[in-house]
Amino acid sequence: HPTPCTVERFLCFLGEFPALDTMFPPCSGIIDNAGGKILVQKVAGHSGYRGSFSNGVRSLSLPRWRESFLVAGTDRLLEEDVSRLLILARRKAVRKEQKLLLCLCVLISDCKVDLSFLIDGSWSIGKRRFQIQKRFLSNVADALDVGSAGPLMGIVQYGNDPSTEFNLKTYTNSKDIRNAIEKIPQKGGLSNVGRALSFVNKNFFSDANGNRGGAPNVAIVMVDGWPTDKVEEASRLARESGINIFFVTIEEAAESEKQNVIEPDFVDKAVCRTNGFYSLSVPSWFSLHKAVQPLVKRVCDTDRLACSKTCLNSADLGFVIDGSSSVGTGNFRTVLQFVANVSKEFEISDTDTRVGAVQYTYEQRLEFAFDRYNSKQDVLSAIKRISYWSGGTSTGAAISYALEQLFSKSKPNKRKIMILITDGRSYDDVRVPAMAAHQSGVIAYSIGIAWAAHDELEAIATDPDKEHSFFVDEFDHLYQFVNQLIQNICTEFNSQPRN
Ligand SMILES: *[C@@H]1O[C@H](CO)[C@@H](O)[C@H](O)[C@H]1NC(C)=O
Repeated sequence: HPTPCTVERFLCFLGEFPALDTMFPPCSGIIDNAGGKILVQKVAGHSGYRGSFSNGVRSLSLPRWRESFLVAGTDRLLEEDVSRLLILARRKAVRKEQKLLLCLCVLISDCKVDLSFLIDGSWSIGKRRFQIQKRFLSNVADALDVGSAGPLMGIVQYGNDPSTEFNLKTYTNSKDIRNAIEKIPQKGGLSNVGRALSFVNKNFFSDANGNRGGAPNVAIVMVDGWPTDKVEEASRLARESGINIFFVTIEEAAESEKQNVIEPDFVDKAVCRTNGFYSLSVPSWFSLHKAVQPLVKRVCDTDRLACSKTCLNSADLGFVIDGSSSVGTGNFRTVLQFVANVSKEFEISDTDTRVGAVQYTYEQRLEFAFDRYNSKQDVLSAIKRISYWSGGTSTGAAISYALEQLFSKSKPNKRKIMILITDGRSYDDVRVPAMAAHQSGVIAYSIGIAWAAHDELEAIATDPDKEHSFFVDEFDHLYQFVNQLIQNICTEFNSQPRN
């Protein structure tokens, strides 16, 4: 039975329905005032909706729309086939000054996450508490309201070694998940949480296992007491891959047991951020049920999932800065300001975006490597301290140097982004080094000022050149390109498969 509509679920949308074309497939008025069931599916927005007019309902043509709805009748669908996320139970369409008022009982989940539960199957937890853990999982699955347009959930059980009980695409509703949880046998062994986190990072969140890419990755680790291996390194790698790690610790080590814990503060070393949001400490297995709602609320607060990969937190950003004589001291300061302004836009830490810089003339100098600083503040002050070198312009050699000194030390799951800034024609060839950079996965942006050569800027830039190459006539106009550059970096990121 569909859940009855409550007031807050009964949403009315007035007006410009960009998807009206699709709502009325061959313009045969499905929506009228007669009542009955229809399906609404929230879909991503896109550009260029054509307007339409049919059955007295006009849709406007819109250049852009953030999201839209697909609507269809449900008469031929069985209730069970319908994910709750697509549903509604009542509807009403009214024409009002050429606008459409569409009222829907919408049970749309805002909680679109790909969730991995790491459950404790070690012997130490015991049979009874293993059952409590399973009940907890079922309650979480219910509260989440699993569905293909909302949260998806898989379970990994760990002991000595981890194994997947089911993955993200095995089940697409809470009921099936509850049944599957019921059948999970306890595997026994130690509590090797670090090993389980590595496993989840390497195997669980793969496309083949149903990872959707667009949904944040969340791993919830259930720990009875404390882990029997170290978690720090495995967690760091998982965070770098964009996994939001939560810990639910039950019956933590008492003061007298602390000497048995092999890695003190393991929770802080593992979770996505140490601000308390990512950890729940439950004093007793018998009060675990109280953690269901708080946990679900946090996991579904997707805007706060700080470890999800974004264009701003998953790059190794290498600046290659022309320090030749033609630039001059004053303009060099402006270039550094530009470098700082671009860097400022990123989230900088050892597991988020990292920044490195090379200055070049005839020669090259590593100003700082990616692993040198891990806070924005430190990066910005290091940029300020770069001193102007003055000399010739060997841009080709500088690119090769940046590949060797910066990007060869880039992390595998970071996007390698090079931003090269120059004000003149290079004395050496840039084509061969640029090609080597592109081939090794570096996404190259070139910024030319004043006398910079367009053909070189384009050779340096990754294709399409138009989005990776910029030219300004004066140093004083450089500031205008900060936003454009960031925007292009993010557009490029969003056009790639995420995980
Ligand atoms: C950098 O940002 C500051 C502060 O917003 C601005 O005044 C300055 O013009 C910018 N400079 C460059 C080169 O981007």
